Amino acid sequence: MRNLIDITDLTTDELQGIMDVACDIIAHPDDYSERCRGKILATLFFEPSTRTRLSFEAAMCDLGGKVIGFSDAGNSSTVKGESLADTARVIGSYVSIIAMRHPKDGAAYHASRYAGVPLINAGDGGHCHPTHTLADMLTIYRAKGGFDKLTVGFCGDLKYGRTVHSLLAALARYGGVKVVLISPEQLKLPDYIKTGLMAEAGMPYKEVDSLENAIPDLDVLYMTRIQRERFLNDTAYADLEDKYMLTAAKMALAKDDCIVLHPLPRVTEIDVDVDPDPRAKYFEQVSNGKVMRMALILFLLSHLNDDAPDPSFEDRGLFCGNHRCVANEERSIVPLFKKTRDGKLVCAYCEAEVK
Ligand code: NCD
Repeated sequence: MRNLIDITDLTTDELQGIMDVACDIIAHPDDYSERCRGKILATLFFEPSTRTRLSFEAAMCDLGGKVIGFSDAGNSSTVKGESLADTARVIGSYVSIIAMRHPKDGAAYHASRYAGVPLINAGDGGHCHPTHTLADMLTIYRAKGGFDKLTVGFCGDLKYGRTVHSLLAALARYGGVKVVLISPEQLKLPDYIKTGLMAEAGMPYKEVDSLENAIPDLDVLYMTRIQRERFLNDTAYADLEDKYMLTAAKMALAKDDCIVLHPLPRVTEIDVDVDPDPRAKYFEQVSNGKVMRMALILFLLSHLNDDAPDPSFEDRGLFCGNHRCVANEERSIVPLFKKTRDGKLVCAYCEAEVK
Protein backbone atom coordinates (compact mmCIF):
# COMPACT_ATOMS: atom_id res chain seq x y z
CA MET A 1 0.00 0.00 0.00
CA ARG A 2 1.20 3.51 -0.77
CA ASN A 3 0.56 6.84 0.95
CA LEU A 4 1.35 10.39 -0.10
CA ILE A 5 2.87 12.05 2.95
CA ASP A 6 5.73 13.88 1.27
CA ILE A 7 6.01 14.65 -2.45
CA THR A 8 9.18 12.54 -2.63
CA ASP A 9 7.03 9.47 -1.87
CA LEU A 10 6.42 9.60 -5.63
CA THR A 11 9.27 9.03 -8.05
CA THR A 12 9.66 11.58 -10.85
CA ASP A 13 8.32 8.94 -13.29
CA GLU A 14 5.26 8.38 -11.10
CA LEU A 15 4.72 12.13 -10.86
CA GLN A 16 4.92 12.39 -14.64
CA GLY A 17 2.46 9.48 -14.94
CA ILE A 18 0.01 11.29 -12.64
CA MET A 19 0.36 14.47 -14.73
CA ASP A 20 -0.30 12.45 -17.91
CA VAL A 21 -3.46 10.93 -16.40
CA ALA A 22 -4.58 14.40 -15.25
CA CYS A 23 -4.14 15.74 -18.80
CA ASP A 24 -6.18 12.79 -20.08
CA ILE A 25 -8.90 13.55 -17.50
CA ILE A 26 -9.03 17.14 -18.80
CA ALA A 27 -9.37 15.84 -22.38
CA HIS A 28 -11.80 12.96 -21.68
CA PRO A 29 -13.58 13.55 -18.34
CA ASP A 30 -16.43 11.14 -19.15
CA ASP A 31 -13.97 8.21 -19.34
CA TYR A 32 -13.30 8.67 -15.62
CA SER A 33 -16.80 9.28 -14.26
CA GLU A 34 -17.30 5.72 -12.95
CA ARG A 35 -13.74 4.78 -12.03
CA CYS A 36 -14.28 4.96 -8.26
CA ARG A 37 -17.80 3.57 -8.13
CA GLY A 38 -18.18 1.83 -4.75
CA LYS A 39 -15.19 3.59 -3.17
CA ILE A 40 -15.35 6.08 -0.30
CA LEU A 41 -12.97 8.94 0.44
CA ALA A 42 -12.82 10.37 3.98
CA THR A 43 -11.74 14.00 4.31
CA LEU A 44 -10.47 14.61 7.85
CA PHE A 45 -9.81 18.31 8.20
CA PHE A 46 -8.58 19.30 11.66
CA GLU A 47 -7.65 22.74 10.28
CA PRO A 48 -9.64 25.20 8.09
CA SER A 49 -9.67 24.70 4.34
CA THR A 50 -11.85 25.65 1.41
CA ARG A 51 -10.02 24.69 -1.77
CA THR A 52 -8.16 21.60 -0.68
CA ARG A 53 -11.06 19.83 1.02
CA LEU A 54 -13.65 20.70 -1.60
CA SER A 55 -11.20 19.86 -4.37
CA PHE A 56 -10.67 16.37 -2.88
CA GLU A 57 -14.42 15.94 -2.50
CA ALA A 58 -15.14 17.16 -6.05
CA ALA A 59 -12.34 14.89 -7.33
CA MET A 60 -13.91 11.80 -5.72
CA CYS A 61 -17.42 12.81 -6.93
CA ASP A 62 -16.11 13.22 -10.50
CA LEU A 63 -14.66 9.69 -10.24
CA GLY A 64 -18.08 8.31 -9.25
CA GLY A 65 -17.11 7.63 -5.62
CA LYS A 66 -18.60 8.84 -2.34
CA VAL A 67 -17.24 11.17 0.32
CA ILE A 68 -17.59 11.35 4.10
CA GLY A 69 -15.67 13.45 6.62
CA PHE A 70 -15.50 16.52 8.79
CA SER A 71 -14.23 20.03 8.23
CA ASP A 72 -13.92 21.04 11.85
CA ALA A 73 -12.11 19.03 14.50
CA GLY A 74 -14.67 20.43 16.99
CA ASN A 75 -17.17 17.99 15.46
CA SER A 76 -14.91 14.96 15.90
CA SER A 77 -14.03 12.78 18.88
CA THR A 78 -10.79 14.72 19.24
CA VAL A 79 -12.74 16.99 21.61
CA LYS A 80 -13.36 13.94 23.81
CA GLY A 81 -9.63 13.32 23.91
CA GLU A 82 -9.36 10.63 21.24
CA SER A 83 -5.85 10.21 19.87
CA LEU A 84 -5.12 10.83 16.20
CA ALA A 85 -3.93 7.24 15.93
CA ASP A 86 -7.32 5.90 17.09
CA THR A 87 -9.26 8.30 14.85
CA ALA A 88 -7.20 7.17 11.83
CA ARG A 89 -7.68 3.50 12.71
CA VAL A 90 -11.47 3.85 13.12
CA ILE A 91 -12.08 5.88 9.97
CA GLY A 92 -9.72 3.65 7.97
CA SER A 93 -12.08 0.77 8.67
CA TYR A 94 -14.99 2.63 6.98
CA VAL A 95 -13.38 3.96 3.81
CA SER A 96 -11.07 3.16 0.88
CA ILE A 97 -8.80 6.20 1.18
CA ILE A 98 -8.25 9.19 3.51
CA ALA A 99 -7.21 12.81 2.88
CA MET A 100 -6.17 14.51 6.12
CA ARG A 101 -5.17 18.03 7.13
CA HIS A 102 -3.84 18.70 10.61
CA PRO A 103 -2.17 21.67 12.36
CA LYS A 104 0.73 19.62 13.76
CA ASP A 105 3.91 19.04 11.75
CA GLY A 106 4.31 15.34 11.01
CA ALA A 107 0.66 14.42 11.80
CA ALA A 108 0.07 12.80 8.40
CA TYR A 109 2.93 10.37 8.77
CA HIS A 110 1.78 9.47 12.27
CA ALA A 111 -1.85 8.83 11.16
CA SER A 112 -0.71 6.83 8.12
CA ARG A 113 0.88 4.27 10.42
CA TYR A 114 -2.56 3.39 11.81
CA ALA A 115 -5.06 4.08 9.00
CA GLY A 116 -4.75 0.75 7.15
CA VAL A 117 -5.83 2.47 3.90
CA PRO A 118 -3.87 4.94 1.72
CA LEU A 119 -3.53 8.28 3.48
CA ILE A 120 -2.97 11.54 1.64
CA ASN A 121 -1.39 14.45 3.46
CA ALA A 122 -3.56 17.49 2.72
CA GLY A 123 -1.22 19.73 4.79
CA ASP A 124 0.53 18.98 8.10
CA GLY A 125 1.23 22.17 10.05
CA GLY A 126 4.02 24.21 8.48
CA HIS A 127 5.71 21.04 7.23
CA CYS A 128 4.45 20.08 3.78
CA HIS A 129 1.50 19.96 1.40
CA PRO A 130 2.26 17.51 -1.39
CA THR A 131 -1.08 17.60 -3.22
CA HIS A 132 -0.69 21.33 -3.66
CA THR A 133 2.57 20.54 -5.35
CA LEU A 134 0.70 18.27 -7.75
CA ALA A 135 -1.43 21.27 -8.75
CA ASP A 136 1.63 23.52 -8.99
CA MET A 137 3.62 21.03 -11.06
CA LEU A 138 0.78 20.54 -13.57
CA THR A 139 0.36 24.31 -13.89
CA ILE A 140 4.08 24.78 -14.62
CA TYR A 141 4.12 21.75 -16.94
CA ARG A 142 1.16 22.97 -18.99
CA ALA A 143 2.60 26.49 -19.30
CA LYS A 144 6.27 25.61 -19.82
CA GLY A 145 6.20 22.10 -21.27
CA GLY A 146 8.65 20.79 -18.63
CA PHE A 147 10.98 21.80 -15.83
CA ASP A 148 14.28 22.42 -17.63
CA LYS A 149 16.18 25.68 -17.30
CA LEU A 150 13.59 27.41 -15.17
CA THR A 151 14.33 30.17 -12.69
CA VAL A 152 11.65 29.96 -10.02
CA GLY A 153 11.13 32.74 -7.47
CA PHE A 154 9.36 32.04 -4.18
CA CYS A 155 8.11 35.17 -2.45
CA GLY A 156 6.53 35.73 0.95
CA ASP A 157 6.42 33.38 3.91
CA LEU A 158 9.02 30.73 3.10
CA LYS A 159 9.31 29.63 6.72
CA TYR A 160 5.77 28.40 7.34
CA GLY A 161 4.59 28.16 3.71
CA ARG A 162 4.23 24.40 3.46
CA THR A 163 3.32 24.52 -0.25
CA VAL A 164 6.73 26.11 -0.87
CA HIS A 165 8.52 23.32 1.00
CA SER A 166 6.81 20.61 -1.02
CA LEU A 167 7.23 22.33 -4.39
CA LEU A 168 10.96 22.83 -3.74
CA ALA A 169 11.26 19.12 -2.94
CA ALA A 170 9.63 18.26 -6.25
CA LEU A 171 11.64 20.74 -8.33
CA ALA A 172 14.95 19.75 -6.72
CA ARG A 173 14.74 16.46 -8.59
CA TYR A 174 14.85 18.17 -11.99
CA GLY A 175 18.35 19.37 -12.79
CA GLY A 176 18.38 22.84 -14.30
CA VAL A 177 15.95 24.56 -11.91
CA LYS A 178 17.40 27.67 -10.23
CA VAL A 179 15.68 29.17 -7.23
CA VAL A 180 15.40 32.73 -5.93
CA LEU A 181 14.09 32.91 -2.35
CA ILE A 182 12.48 36.30 -1.68
CA SER A 183 11.48 36.85 1.95
CA PRO A 184 12.05 39.02 5.00
CA GLU A 185 14.77 37.80 7.37
CA GLN A 186 12.20 36.39 9.85
CA LEU A 187 10.48 34.23 7.23
CA LYS A 188 13.42 32.64 5.47
CA LEU A 189 13.25 29.05 4.24
CA PRO A 190 14.09 26.56 7.03
CA ASP A 191 17.66 25.31 7.01
CA TYR A 192 16.60 21.66 6.86
CA ILE A 193 15.37 22.25 3.32
CA LYS A 194 18.40 24.29 2.18
CA THR A 195 20.99 21.99 3.70
CA GLY A 196 18.94 18.84 3.06
CA LEU A 197 17.27 18.15 -0.22
CA MET A 198 18.36 21.32 -2.05
CA ALA A 199 22.01 20.75 -1.13
CA GLU A 200 21.75 17.05 -1.95
CA ALA A 201 20.35 17.90 -5.38
CA GLY A 202 22.90 20.70 -5.92
CA MET A 203 20.00 23.07 -6.60
CA PRO A 204 21.38 26.60 -7.02
CA TYR A 205 19.61 29.25 -4.96
CA LYS A 206 20.02 32.80 -3.70
CA GLU A 207 18.22 34.58 -0.89
CA VAL A 208 17.12 38.19 -1.43
CA ASP A 209 14.53 40.49 0.07
CA SER A 210 13.44 42.67 -2.88
CA LEU A 211 10.72 41.40 -5.20
CA GLU A 212 11.26 44.27 -7.66
CA ASN A 213 14.95 43.43 -8.10
CA ALA A 214 14.32 39.70 -8.50
CA ILE A 215 11.29 39.71 -10.80
CA PRO A 216 12.95 40.40 -14.19
CA ASP A 217 14.93 37.11 -14.06
CA LEU A 218 12.04 34.80 -13.20
CA ASP A 219 10.22 32.24 -15.38
CA VAL A 220 7.87 31.33 -12.54
CA LEU A 221 6.91 33.56 -9.59
CA TYR A 222 5.33 31.69 -6.66
CA MET A 223 3.68 34.15 -4.27
CA THR A 224 2.52 33.12 -0.81
CA ARG A 225 0.47 34.52 2.04
CA ILE A 226 2.11 35.23 5.40
CA GLN A 227 0.83 32.31 7.49
CA ARG A 228 -0.71 34.35 10.29
CA GLU A 229 -2.06 31.28 12.14
CA ARG A 230 1.47 29.96 12.74
CA PHE A 231 2.73 33.13 14.47
CA LEU A 232 2.98 33.09 18.22
CA ASN A 233 1.71 36.68 18.52
CA ASP A 234 -0.09 39.25 16.38
CA THR A 235 2.58 41.95 16.69
CA ALA A 236 5.14 39.73 14.97
CA TYR A 237 2.59 39.19 12.20
CA ALA A 238 1.65 42.88 11.92
CA ASP A 239 5.32 43.81 11.33
CA LEU A 240 5.38 41.62 8.24
CA GLU A 241 1.87 42.06 6.86
CA ASP A 242 1.87 43.75 3.43
CA LYS A 243 5.64 43.34 3.09
CA TYR A 244 5.19 42.08 -0.48
CA MET A 245 2.47 42.98 -2.89
CA LEU A 246 2.52 41.99 -6.53
CA THR A 247 0.84 44.64 -8.69
CA ALA A 248 0.31 45.19 -12.42
CA ALA A 249 3.12 47.78 -12.21
CA LYS A 250 5.56 45.15 -10.87
CA MET A 251 4.37 42.63 -13.48
CA ALA A 252 5.52 45.16 -16.11
CA LEU A 253 9.09 44.33 -14.96
CA ALA A 254 8.60 40.57 -15.50
CA LYS A 255 9.33 38.51 -18.61
CA ASP A 256 6.50 38.19 -21.14
CA ASP A 257 6.20 34.49 -20.32
CA CYS A 258 6.79 34.62 -16.55
CA ILE A 259 3.85 32.81 -14.94
CA VAL A 260 2.49 33.73 -11.52
CA LEU A 261 1.31 31.06 -9.07
CA HIS A 262 -0.22 31.36 -5.61
CA PRO A 263 -1.68 28.52 -3.52
CA LEU A 264 -4.58 30.75 -2.37
CA PRO A 265 -6.18 32.09 -0.29
CA ARG A 266 -4.58 35.44 -1.07
CA VAL A 267 -4.81 38.29 1.35
CA THR A 268 -2.92 41.33 0.07
CA GLU A 269 0.03 39.69 -1.71
CA ILE A 270 -1.47 39.91 -5.21
CA ASP A 271 -3.45 42.96 -6.17
CA VAL A 272 -6.61 42.22 -8.14
CA ASP A 273 -5.17 44.37 -10.95
CA VAL A 274 -2.91 41.37 -11.77
CA ASP A 275 -5.86 38.97 -12.30
CA PRO A 276 -6.60 39.85 -15.96
CA ASP A 277 -2.93 39.34 -16.91
CA PRO A 278 -2.68 36.10 -18.95
CA ARG A 279 0.49 35.28 -16.99
CA ALA A 280 -1.57 35.01 -13.77
CA LYS A 281 -2.17 31.27 -13.41
CA TYR A 282 -3.47 31.00 -9.83
CA PHE A 283 -7.06 30.26 -10.77
CA GLU A 284 -6.01 27.69 -13.40
CA GLN A 285 -3.88 26.18 -10.60
CA VAL A 286 -7.10 25.48 -8.67
CA SER A 287 -8.68 23.45 -11.48
CA ASN A 288 -5.38 21.65 -12.05
CA GLY A 289 -5.47 20.70 -8.36
CA LYS A 290 -8.77 18.89 -8.77
CA VAL A 291 -7.69 16.78 -11.76
CA MET A 292 -4.34 15.97 -10.12
CA ARG A 293 -6.19 14.80 -6.99
CA MET A 294 -8.38 12.61 -9.22
CA ALA A 295 -5.27 11.12 -10.83
CA LEU A 296 -3.64 10.66 -7.41
CA ILE A 297 -6.67 8.83 -5.96
CA LEU A 298 -6.63 6.49 -8.99
CA PHE A 299 -2.88 5.95 -8.56
CA LEU A 300 -3.09 5.10 -4.86
CA LEU A 301 -6.12 2.84 -5.27
CA SER A 302 -4.31 0.93 -8.01
CA HIS A 303 -1.22 0.35 -5.80
CA LEU A 304 -2.90 -1.25 -2.80
CA ASN A 305 -0.72 -4.34 -3.07
CA ASP A 306 2.60 -2.49 -3.32
CA ASP A 307 5.03 -2.78 -0.44
CA ALA A 308 5.46 0.65 1.13
CA PRO A 309 9.11 1.77 0.89
CA ASP A 310 10.89 0.93 4.15
CA PRO A 311 11.94 4.27 5.60
CA SER A 312 14.32 2.76 8.21
CA PHE A 313 13.44 5.10 11.06
CA GLU A 314 14.96 4.50 14.48
CA ASP A 315 13.87 4.96 18.07
CA ARG A 316 16.94 6.58 19.64
CA GLY A 317 15.43 7.43 23.00
CA LEU A 318 15.46 11.14 22.03
CA PHE A 319 12.71 13.77 21.75
CA CYS A 320 11.97 16.07 18.83
CA GLY A 321 12.88 19.69 19.66
CA ASN A 322 10.15 21.16 17.41
CA HIS A 323 7.27 22.20 19.66
CA ARG A 324 4.92 22.12 16.64
CA CYS A 325 5.71 18.46 15.96
CA VAL A 326 3.01 15.83 16.47
CA ALA A 327 5.59 13.67 18.24
CA ASN A 328 5.37 16.06 21.18
CA GLU A 329 1.58 15.96 21.22
CA GLU A 330 0.33 12.40 21.60
CA ARG A 331 1.41 10.19 24.47
CA SER A 332 1.34 7.07 22.32
CA ILE A 333 3.90 8.33 19.82
CA VAL A 334 7.33 6.79 19.81
CA PRO A 335 9.74 9.54 18.69
CA LEU A 336 11.51 8.24 15.58
CA PHE A 337 14.54 9.65 13.80
CA LYS A 338 16.31 9.20 10.51
CA LYS A 339 19.68 10.19 9.09
CA THR A 340 19.72 12.46 6.03
CA ARG A 341 22.18 11.72 3.24
CA ASP A 342 24.55 14.35 4.62
CA GLY A 343 24.55 12.60 8.01
CA LYS A 344 22.21 14.89 9.96
CA LEU A 345 19.77 13.36 12.41
CA VAL A 346 16.20 14.56 11.83
CA CYS A 347 12.77 13.77 13.29
CA ALA A 348 10.98 11.18 11.15
CA TYR A 349 7.65 13.01 11.56
CA CYS A 350 8.47 16.68 10.97
CA GLU A 351 12.09 16.53 9.65
CA ALA A 352 13.36 19.09 12.21
CA GLU A 353 17.06 18.57 12.81
CA VAL A 354 18.10 17.20 16.18
CA LYS A 355 20.77 19.62 17.40
C1 NCD B 1 -2.32 26.63 1.33
C2 NCD B 1 -2.21 25.83 2.63
O1 NCD B 1 -3.22 25.43 3.19
O2 NCD B 1 -1.07 25.63 3.02
N1 NCD B 1 -3.62 26.74 0.80
C3 NCD B 1 -4.24 25.74 0.15
O3 NCD B 1 -3.99 24.58 0.32
N2 NCD B 1 -5.09 26.13 -0.82
C4 NCD B 1 -1.70 27.96 1.45
C5 NCD B 1 -2.18 28.90 2.50
O4 NCD B 1 -3.06 28.59 3.32
O5 NCD B 1 -1.67 30.02 2.51
